[in-house]
Amino acid sequence: MSKILPLALALFCTIGMNPVEASELSAKPIVIAHRGASGYRPEHTRSSYQLAIEQGADFIEPDLVMTKDGVLIARHENEVSGTTDVADRPEFNDRYATKVIDGETFTGWFTEDFTLAELKTLRAKERRPALRFDTPQFDGTDEILTFQEVITIAQKGSQTAGRTIGVYPELKHPHYHETLGFDMVSALLADLEKADWSKRNDPVFVQCFWPAPLQEVKRRSTLKTVFLTTRWQPDQALMATYKLNYWPDLASSAGFAEVASWADGLGPSVDLLIVENPDGLAPSAFLHNAQTHGLLLHPWGINVEPELIPAPFAARADIAKGWNGIARDQAIKWYKTVFDLGVNGMFTDYPDMSASALRTEP
Ligand code: G3P
Ligand code: CA
Repeated sequence: MSKILPLALALFCTIGMNPVEASELSAKPIVIAHRGASGYRPEHTRSSYQLAIEQGADFIEPDLVMTKDGVLIARHENEVSGTTDVADRPEFNDRYATKVIDGETFTGWFTEDFTLAELKTLRAKERRPALRFDTPQFDGTDEILTFQEVITIAQKGSQTAGRTIGVYPELKHPHYHETLGFDMVSALLADLEKADWSKRNDPVFVQCFWPAPLQEVKRRSTLKTVFLTTRWQPDQALMATYKLNYWPDLASSAGFAEVASWADGLGPSVDLLIVENPDGLAPSAFLHNAQTHGLLLHPWGINVEPELIPAPFAARADIAKGWNGIARDQAIKWYKTVFDLGVNGMFTDYPDMSASALRTEP
């Protein structure tokens, strides 16, 4: 990793500083608890968020979808059979449905068909019981949280921990929700306003895989925005379904400049930042372009299970063998590898590993 650090630092020192303040770029990288400490507790639950705060997270992340009565709740999918006990609740059999969401077909139980009061009767469960075999012991304990409740956990957690814990909400399926008559951006801004966390310097980043909601957040507030990126982008049919005519071109420098006009940062899957060459791992052109345009970088997908580490890194023995209590130091080494790229933070299911990597000397 010694090859990556000098290059990252060199880029870091020469980048343009617009629109993100230089102080924000040079600040200590942040640990973003991805769905809470979701490597240890069922995701998006109070237990998961509280453990994340105890483990040293700076931000807690809720993915957001909507209830029938228009409340933002913390779930990764609007179809909740994978993360709740809804399939074992006969009183909700009549809600079983098949729907097309962002071009993909799903069958199950959908949050937009339930009121908040109904959803509050469900209990959360571990999404990956085979992989995270310690976590199912916590199944059946936690309820589904509203976004407002997640903000309160962060605000109260800040008081208890004696340091600022922020929120990092992600708007899931905003255009699909729009077709149902929901305005997620307005709901998000209203919740943040209610919590008095709607100003530029409040500890909030709004993230989305879709540009339009972030552009709207920028028009209507001074909140910080982060555009999530993968190698995926909607095909023409999906663009037409949602009447969209703009998608940024992140293969070109001009595309990054455009994104910097409505986003403060990028949230790339970590594989976009690193290339593997014969000498080892090196920063990618994507990383260079983002830093050149002054965009914060908060990658995701930094976990410890070999199954969840993106190819080609999972094939590297020194990284992939570092979990299940065998070699925690190897797992932390992977986290450090990512920080050494010069990123401004990372999303992780294991905030403790991330915090340890930040404390570890080179
Ligand atoms: O929000 C960052 C990362 O969480 C994006 O992926 O699918 O886990 O929401 P996902
Ligand atoms: Ca997310």
